[in-house]
Amino acid sequence: MTDVRSRITGIGSFVPPRVVTNDDLSRMMDTTDEWIVQRTGIRERRWVEGVTSTSDLALEASKQALESAGMTAADLDMIFLATLSPDHFFPGTAVFLQTKLGIAGIPAIDVRQQCTGFIYALSMADQYIRTGSARRILVVGSEVHSKGLDKSTPGRDVTVLFGDGAGAVVVEATEVSDPARDPFIMSTHLYSDGAYAEDLWVPAVSTAYDEEIVDPRAIERGDQYPKMNGRQVFVHAVKRMPEAVLEALDHNGYRIEDVDLFVFHQANLRINEAVAHKLGAPAGKVFNTIERFANTTAATIPIGLHEALKDGKLEEGMLVASAAFGSGFTWASALLRW
Ligand code: ACO
Repeated sequence: MTDVRSRITGIGSFVPPRVVTNDDLSRMMDTTDEWIVQRTGIRERRWVEGVTSTSDLALEASKQALESAGMTAADLDMIFLATLSPDHFFPGTAVFLQTKLGIAGIPAIDVRQQCTGFIYALSMADQYIRTGSARRILVVGSEVHSKGLDKSTPGRDVTVLFGDGAGAVVVEATEVSDPARDPFIMSTHLYSDGAYAEDLWVPAVSTAYDEEIVDPRAIERGDQYPKMNGRQVFVHAVKRMPEAVLEALDHNGYRIEDVDLFVFHQANLRINEAVAHKLGAPAGKVFNTIERFANTTAATIPIGLHEALKDGKLEEGMLVASAAFGSGFTWASALLRW
């Protein structure tokens, strides 16, 4: 294999220091630590304080990723930033990150595929590198959920699930002479089905309203908060994530037993246990962060990779399978040699 491929050369992550436990939530709404742990596996999450925005968290993760890749922001050819909690309705959050990184001129692109956003962004970075259009790309997932959640009892089904955080990787061009040893992104597979868009969504603010995008009647209804059909999400997630992993393995000629580490999206521990069970993936090879950070949507997979690396669970040469499922519905997988 001599054509240009891409690989991850740097990684970073950042979660805000404020820890919010399940007991803290139970003082804001009618919920309990027992209900949350049993249904989701989540024990605590992080929430930002004050004016901290999605691009601020992205900046911290990006600085670490650039440092670990041994480069500066000026070396980048492109930025992809995946988020469902943008700094503003427009422009995209990637340009705010770009300015905070102190660079200008290169394309800075937002990716809006929610929980699946990081794998979508990674896929796009991989394609740009493989076609020779770019050589060094920053790929970021960043979320500030805490400012967009209903923290009273009507919002409890959704609010307990989410946390704030950011993760980033630097993706660079590489040549692969031995696919069984050399680090590279082997494949990404992306899917979506908009028939389920309203099973997990934020209705407001919306150009689909009668007149103004910020409609006072919609705000009164609480349309600015996420709405979720939890059972529908559960059923589809446990079907689609294994399918996407098997597609990735089949495409590259590998089997489940060949995978050294599974880094799944962290929506719910029960979803991931069901996915692992369906795949026959041993628990010891599945890396979870949901207990500590809850669901950080687009930031989840880069945070998971970074935490696995710091814990010594992710090592050079490992075959890593990643999969995500989320709002859209969208789902995706990535197979890579670390
Ligand atoms: N605390 C206490 N009680 C609650 C809470 C809460 N936080 N939330 C809901 N309940 C109540 C409900 O009101 C309901 O009460 P009722 O029986 O009196 O009507 C009861 O608990 C059971 O509710 P169910 O919705 O039936 O609970 P279920 O066992 O289905 O679990 C859950 C709900 C955890 C959301 C589950 O459906 C699920 O895991 N779905 C997947 C959704 C998900 O993970 N989304 C993450 C975001 S999407 C993504 O990243 C892919």
